[in-house]
Amino acid sequence: MDHRIPVGVLGATGMVGARLVHMLVEHPWFRLAEVVASERSAGEPLGALLSGADAAGLPSEITGLEVKTPGEALSSPLLLSALPSSVAKEIEEAAAGEGRLVVSNASAHRTDADVPLVIPEVNPDHLALLDAQRSRWPGGIVTNPNCAVAVLATCLAPLHEAFGLERVVVTTLQAISGAGRPGPAAFDLVDNVLPHIAGEEPKIAGEPRKILGTVRDGVVVDADFAVGATAVRVPVLHGHLVSVACSLRKKAAPEEAVAAMSGWRGHVADLELPTAPAHPLEIAEEVDRPQPRLDRDRGGGMTVTVGRVRAGGALHLSFVALAHNLVRGAAGAALLNAELCHARGLA
Ligand SMILES: NC(=O)c1ccc[n+]([C@@H]2O[C@H](COP(=O)([O-])OP(=O)(O)OC[C@H]3O[C@@H](n4cnc5c(N)ncnc54)[C@H](OP(=O)(O)O)[C@@H]3O)[C@@H](O)[C@H]2O)c1
Repeated sequence: MDHRIPVGVLGATGMVGARLVHMLVEHPWFRLAEVVASERSAGEPLGALLSGADAAGLPSEITGLEVKTPGEALSSPLLLSALPSSVAKEIEEAAAGEGRLVVSNASAHRTDADVPLVIPEVNPDHLALLDAQRSRWPGGIVTNPNCAVAVLATCLAPLHEAFGLERVVVTTLQAISGAGRPGPAAFDLVDNVLPHIAGEEPKIAGEPRKILGTVRDGVVVDADFAVGATAVRVPVLHGHLVSVACSLRKKAAPEEAVAAMSGWRGHVADLELPTAPAHPLEIAEEVDRPQPRLDRDRGGGMTVTVGRVRAGGALHLSFVALAHNLVRGAAGAALLNAELCHARGLA
């Protein structure tokens, strides 16, 4: 008898959805019960729709799942959404209206006042916002951040807790898989970088302030620091690197910043969530790290690697950080949020 909670993946044939499907194989708490994609995929077995690399290693009971469309009846109380934001709003709201808990990668609801935007190690208390959703629907919607913000906010959290952030200037070097399928044309990206990613910079500027904000009277009061962002697409398959400079309210030497980050375990270490890495942040001592190929799979893709922590020139402190955009930045982030909800009795 399988006592695990049945879950569905929305957008299971996409870049993030396929990664979620893999992460659910042999998950101790959740059982992948149903998969959803667009009308284009309806009725096909999942395995026939995934690329060879994405289908490799999946058991037949998963590759054989017939893909449903959002309009079809679903049975799972918990849905992990990897839908494009353009369609996520309507579909996720309908699922919450049916009493399901939706844990979403999409940006559609991230800025809603009553929707928590959560990185479990950073702001698990923001799940309290779910109470305010009761007036909208019997279910709930929980979101995880933009893939570059997942890296950025995780390293800003211990700095903000210890020293208080004043200003953050960040340039993100984002991998191709962050764009989903089919992504930018090879002709545009090989031997090149693209210095603009549509819609990305406002998310990178805004989301860290909500995540590091404080819940007061059922709403989040954004953290009081400014973020300036430049988002760049680079010819790397997986792994977003962020280059950060920040000024702090209480000035800290690089060694103090390293101590704050390397000793930080976040706020859910006691829950032993299955997808949580032993170390949310690790410091790379080598001067030429982190690098996407060498560091993106640290902690199963869930650990953020920080390097080159140094005194800034114009601002107090500079560093670079990197994590796997499809894992810490997307599928793993949503799964960890779902595990947090389960551990808190919400799913
Ligand atoms: N890639 C990343 O690193 C990353 C990181 C963080 C967040 N995100 C967010 O995660 C979401 C998924 O990203 P992705 O990169 O995986 O995108 P993707 O590769 O384009 O996949 C999109 C998925 O959604 C399905 N879909 C599209 N239109 C649909 C509709 N009308 N009804 C039902 N299903 C529909 C697609 O199904 P078909 O195969 O049938 O078209 C596919 O399964 C996006 O909101 C993205 O912004 C992505």
